[in-house]
Amino acid sequence: MDGNGRWAKQRGLPRTEGHKAGVEVFERICEYAAGLGIPALTFYAFSAENWVRPQEEVAAIMNLFRRQLEAAERRKAENEEKRWRIRYIGDLEDGGPVPADILRLLRDMEHQASDKEKTIVNIAVNYGGRQEILHAAQRLARLAQAHALEPEDFTEQDVDDGLYTAGQPALDLVIRPSGELRLSNFLLWQSAYAEFWFSDILWPDFTEAHLDAALAAYAARNRRFGDVE
Ligand code: IPE
Ligand code: MG
Repeated sequence: MDGNGRWAKQRGLPRTEGHKAGVEVFERICEYAAGLGIPALTFYAFSAENWVRPQEEVAAIMNLFRRQLEAAERRKAENEEKRWRIRYIGDLEDGGPVPADILRLLRDMEHQASDKEKTIVNIAVNYGGRQEILHAAQRLARLAQAHALEPEDFTEQDVDDGLYTAGQPALDLVIRPSGELRLSNFLLWQSAYAEFWFSDILWPDFTEAHLDAALAAYAARNRRFGDVE
């Protein structure tokens, strides 16, 4: 979800207004994607590297998370059903940089969400692809230390099982808006054979039609996975 800051700047607004607009687009795209039957989506909301931003901006983004989580709690209390279930991925351990009240709210959210039929919406918070791979490696090292699994027997599946996205469908398509042509530490392991769709559109301007365009481009790709034709 990139380009919020530039979108706001173009309008003479503070960057945080761009993030607010971005949250609305996020909601709309979730609804639309769930309607299309996409089994899983991952939104890069806040990276492990984003903490270096000005403190006011970080605080404003954290407040948006709070507001989102509180709205979700209200919906839960009112039994309002969504077509997707949210999962949070990233380093969300206690004692890290994510504020404790947010950690508490998002754990509550995860507990209620178990409907297997629904689209999975992963929200990446304090997320980094390298950190995720390191986390998976640490898990394997612990298994080896306990002699539950010997290093010679490690498989790609074992690494996969230690990722935040363990058990989820394979990643098919990465969409990056805002004109940047890089992965920025997003889903590094998972994207090994993913297709990429880049666009200059800024995230707050992203619409259902852009998702359709990305999906149409994806459908026209020839995925060979190393094979011929
Ligand atoms: C949103 O866009 C991504 C977040 C880290 C919340 P940006 O804030 O990166 O917007 P630009 O790239 O400065 O335009
Ligand atoms: Mg950016």
